[in-house]
Amino acid sequence: MVRSPLIDGHGRQIGDVRISVTDRCNFRCQYCMPAEGLTWLDRDGVLSFEEIQRLVGLLAELGVRDLRLTGGEPLVRRDFPSLVAMLAPLVEDLSITTNGFLLERDAAALVAAGANRFNVSIDSLQRDRFFEMTRRDALPRVLRGLETLAAFPEAHPIKVNAVAMRGFTEDEALPFARFAREFPYQVRFIEFMPLDAGHTWSPDQVLTGDEIRAAIHAVFPLEAEPREPHATARVYRFADGQGQIGFINPVSEPFCGDCDRIRITAEGKLRTCLFSLNETDLLGPMRAGATDDDLEQIIRDAVWRKELKHRVNEPGFIQPDRPMSAIGG
Ligand code: 5AD
Ligand code: SF4
Repeated sequence: MVRSPLIDGHGRQIGDVRISVTDRCNFRCQYCMPAEGLTWLDRDGVLSFEEIQRLVGLLAELGVRDLRLTGGEPLVRRDFPSLVAMLAPLVEDLSITTNGFLLERDAAALVAAGANRFNVSIDSLQRDRFFEMTRRDALPRVLRGLETLAAFPEAHPIKVNAVAMRGFTEDEALPFARFAREFPYQVRFIEFMPLDAGHTWSPDQVLTGDEIRAAIHAVFPLEAEPREPHATARVYRFADGQGQIGFINPVSEPFCGDCDRIRITAEGKLRTCLFSLNETDLLGPMRAGATDDDLEQIIRDAVWRKELKHRVNEPGFIQPDRPMSAIGG
């Protein structure tokens, strides 16, 4: 069935949905989770594979083409590759954001199931500093996972994402630039956003994309690629043609204007912005017998109220209660 497109109150058409398949994670990144972890949802409180399939099918009828599966850490969800196989036929593009810890085990199954793009989070290329940031001594294992994935031509282009924090990431800029030049990965620095569990974010902890870009450009000259519509990253190529590097600058250069994204949390709450202060329950209505037409109306109403932009840089900004792991990146 074809339904009319999902449009928000500011005229933006929704084309991209990010679904968190679990709130659990095997890492404890400083900028996301407390060291002791969080209280996990009960299994019952999480969307089942069939419920996710139903939502993705309906959203596809509403014009969503891109699906990103996230967590927590999506690969810790039992039988995750089976879920990917259920969803891949429904969309044009299925991507996965992962911390890479379980990629050695799962890369082959995920590619076979139809995942065609991957973002692997790596915040440092030095083992001790990786440990400091993620609270897991897992860099060698993550790099092996990345290599396992890279062996599949269907998995490319592969993106490596590093959260950029002042006082930490300055020393990572050049090593990551060399990494992006030597290996077939597009490294992207993401500005630290106020989505940490401890609510200790402050603007001075943000190392901006521009600062990192200038540091890299001084050693390896960069040339801007054109910006793709709805893109989060500003992409640059190394002037000598050897690889690319990207900057996701939500704090210093917000890209809300053509945002086409919505998110669904592991417990089935629709969020129209990372920084939304309210959300719309989909799981309750689904379990109470809502028809697809009912769900469509609930989704349309929520999307209509999608935020014009985030207010991270404005006085009075209120950080959402949920940290990144409970939203889905
Ligand atoms: N700011 C920016 N990026 C974050 N991520 C998690 N928390 C934050 C934050 N506070 C990133 C992870 C991963 C993706 C899911 O989101 O590093 O790349
Ligand atoms: Fe886990 Fe990702 Fe949060 Fe790190 S950023 S703790 S890998 S959910």
